[in-house]
Amino acid sequence: MPVPEDVKKRVEDLRKEIENHNYSYYVLDSPTITDARFDQLMRELADLEGKFPGLASPDSPTMRVGGSPREGFVTIRHLSPMLSLGNAFDDGELRDFDRRVRQGAGDREIEYVAELKIDGLAVSILYRNGSMERAATRGDGENGEDITPNMRTVRSVPLKLRHPVDLLEVRGEVFMSKEAFAGLNQSREDSGDPLFANPRNAAAGSLRQLDPSVTASRQLSAFMYALGAVEGASLKTHSEVLEFLREQGFKINHHYRVFRDIEKVIEYCGEWQKSRFDLPYATDGIVVKVNSLELQAALGATMKTPRWAIAFKYPPEQARTVIKEIFIGVGRTGVLTPTAILKPVRLAGSTVTRATLHNEDIIRDKDIRIGDTVIVHKAGDIIPEVLEVVKEERTGSETPYQMPEICPECGSGVIRAQGEAAVRCVNSTCPARYREGLIHFVSRGAMDIAGLGPAVISQLISEGLVSSPADLYRLKKEDLVPLERMGEKSAQNLLDAIGKSRQNPLHRLLFALGIRHVGERAGKILAQRFGSMKRIMEAPFEELVNIPEIGPRIAGSITDFFADQKSRGLVEELSLLGLLMEAESKTGDIDGAFQGKTVVLTGGLGQFTRQEAQELVEKLGGRVSSSVSKKTDLVVAGEDPGSKYEKAVKLGIKIIDEEEFIRLADV
Ligand code: IVH
Repeated sequence: MPVPEDVKKRVEDLRKEIENHNYSYYVLDSPTITDARFDQLMRELADLEGKFPGLASPDSPTMRVGGSPREGFVTIRHLSPMLSLGNAFDDGELRDFDRRVRQGAGDREIEYVAELKIDGLAVSILYRNGSMERAATRGDGENGEDITPNMRTVRSVPLKLRHPVDLLEVRGEVFMSKEAFAGLNQSREDSGDPLFANPRNAAAGSLRQLDPSVTASRQLSAFMYALGAVEGASLKTHSEVLEFLREQGFKINHHYRVFRDIEKVIEYCGEWQKSRFDLPYATDGIVVKVNSLELQAALGATMKTPRWAIAFKYPPEQARTVIKEIFIGVGRTGVLTPTAILKPVRLAGSTVTRATLHNEDIIRDKDIRIGDTVIVHKAGDIIPEVLEVVKEERTGSETPYQMPEICPECGSGVIRAQGEAAVRCVNSTCPARYREGLIHFVSRGAMDIAGLGPAVISQLISEGLVSSPADLYRLKKEDLVPLERMGEKSAQNLLDAIGKSRQNPLHRLLFALGIRHVGERAGKILAQRFGSMKRIMEAPFEELVNIPEIGPRIAGSITDFFADQKSRGLVEELSLLGLLMEAESKTGDIDGAFQGKTVVLTGGLGQFTRQEAQELVEKLGGRVSSSVSKKTDLVVAGEDPGSKYEKAVKLGIKIIDEEEFIRLADV
């Protein structure tokens, strides 16, 4: 079908606008529109691209959700090799580096750029005529793996340069923030999947995925810091390179500084040695580079590493302490997690009193015993972990540890499924499960009920007042006042907070339910896509799995959850208790002409833009879907309707024209 000029223009405008919003959000960290509006723009674009396949483009923001899995990785040759760096482990080695540089530079003035060494995965991205053409891992420096579809999902990396040049090979580090890393590991621990050791492994594991939609779900980001091959731009210094990258729309790390004196560089390294723990991403050193590109070229490289740059590596932060006891926590999925209670010790910017032991296998492999002197570190600078036992310190009084054979919370049996490292309590009504489930239900990002911390929840449970989220909404003031540290006023505040949470958007409730693998983002996608809890509960696996970013794991977990009568009962109760079960943007006029209907728009409408028609349907209580299925109630067919029209005819779905649409909408 020929593409009308106005559609072409709209698609171009949408792509530009969406990418500008992506840039504001992911590069500048300052969002410019609401999520709902952003999703609306994306939907409009996806609809148009679906209707006019000729408009498909790898530069489109719709490519950022992933696309279809591949069979294997292809090797790509970098246009210019990706070198690695020599290391300096102390100030003396930095001074040696400075001496070597000065020798090679003769009487030239020297400037250094010092920048943070990001603990991630080096990548190279090639842009031709301003568009991302391909992306690769570093590999052996000469050849890397093609990860182009994965890289397109990293939203802080532009799909198009802001000021196109003929050819640009951009290098940088893909990383996962400490927060995203901790969240990912938490959900892996919940589901019994092996944990990532640090953010670098998590970033690498997420980027090197045959299925790019997995990458899209992993919250990766990237700081770019170097150029490979360049045609069409001329730059003189490394600091100019960084600013050039910034102007081209890349995220660069703003903490870089230019120095003339190596002693100042050493001071900078010292300053970051402690402050790096306050950064939201992991770093493992400082990279020092000669600023002048001409001098870089003159100094050249040895076989593997450049003579003009060096990595100052911080020693991994470790501390020695003693395991006082081992405590078993039961999570909301019933997994028993052992935690070492430590003699308090300072480590990487904080005092550490406990360290996760993850699971039975780790305790056995490391032969960890109660009373052992151990070396602890923070995995990826974040999670305290026992690295190893100092066996020489053993006195013989240490006690080997056995995982309990019954649940420490409820006394039921525990099982360890084949192939899983996790041991679980078999009792689906174990109080620990519902306590942890409730703690999650009221937490920030979920129902966010202020004043309802773990201590109050434990009290409510032990007083027999609450055993499920629905019970929270039945609490009365006289139930609360007698609780410890409660009083009239705080009881009222708590009731108000609980009451207010009834109006929380559907996506928060979805997340709060604690469906395995359904995090905040999946909650939003589901709410947006289906518009109501009822539709999500009824959605078949095949429909869920086809949603970008959902995939088989999440889809399976959603259908399992709602197949369980208990979950359905809980949702029913919550609904009767007045919680919002419809997505806000989708709830229009209750008596609206399209109330509860799924409408598909196809073909050009004369009186409305696609956006206006969609808003009208939503205002009148309906929901617009981009594709026709058995669930579609109505198809509005304008001029030149496409394949959606044919599909609607085939499925016998009611089709109306624009005139009828106007009559129904009464506008
Ligand atoms: S420059 C020839 N700058 O560290 C210059 N590398 O140990 C090549 N890295 O492979 C790299 N942050 O993965 C450079 N600001 C930074 C960096 C950085 C992290 C990584 C990179 C490189 C490794 C070398």
